[in-house]
Amino acid sequence: MDINEFSNAFDKISKDWMLVSAQKDGKTNTMTASWGGLGFLWGKPVAMIFIRPQRYTKEFIDNSNYLSLSFFTEDYRKMLSFMGSKSGRDVDKIKEQNLHLVEGELAPVFEEAKTTLICKKLYAQEMTKESFIDKDLIPKFYANNDFHTTYIVEIEKVI
Ligand SMILES: Cc1cc2nc3c(=O)[nH]c(=O)nc-3n(C[C@H](O)[C@H](O)[C@H](O)COP(=O)(O)O)c2cc1C
Repeated sequence: MDINEFSNAFDKISKDWMLVSAQKDGKTNTMTASWGGLGFLWGKPVAMIFIRPQRYTKEFIDNSNYLSLSFFTEDYRKMLSFMGSKSGRDVDKIKEQNLHLVEGELAPVFEEAKTTLICKKLYAQEMTKESFIDKDLIPKFYANNDFHTTYIVEIEKVI
């Protein structure tokens, strides 16, 4: 893992954004995410992502043992906005944005990405109301009861 590129994981994820992508039945779906983290757990380099139940990408993530996190240069900001505002249920987002998949990896890799983390799923858990210590977060972020699922994934390969 190139530590220099990820030394400021706060900005890398929250400001630069990333694509979370996974495969199901030979199909790939992807969505933009700006909430997440990188760290160390169970003796492994890990990433954490948080996915709401209504995301089409969640079906792909739940179907596969692997997912990818892809990071792009600023030139791709419009593409990231698109991937974060349209659903793969309604449009083939990858085709529409003219991204190209590289064959032969365990999770989707886009030719256009600057860096891709190939990640193996280790842990998934839906957030519950009871688990919130700061209850103010619930009306603010979960008025529709659409609690995120937390995924902790092992970063197996950096491309
Ligand atoms: C900047 C940005 C960050 C986002 N971060 C997240 C996130 O961390 N978790 C999440 O569930 N949705 C997040 N979204 C929303 C999804 O990307 C969006 O709902 C997307 O259209 C889902 O596509 P899908 O239905 O094809 O999965 C974000 C959207 C944007 C624009």
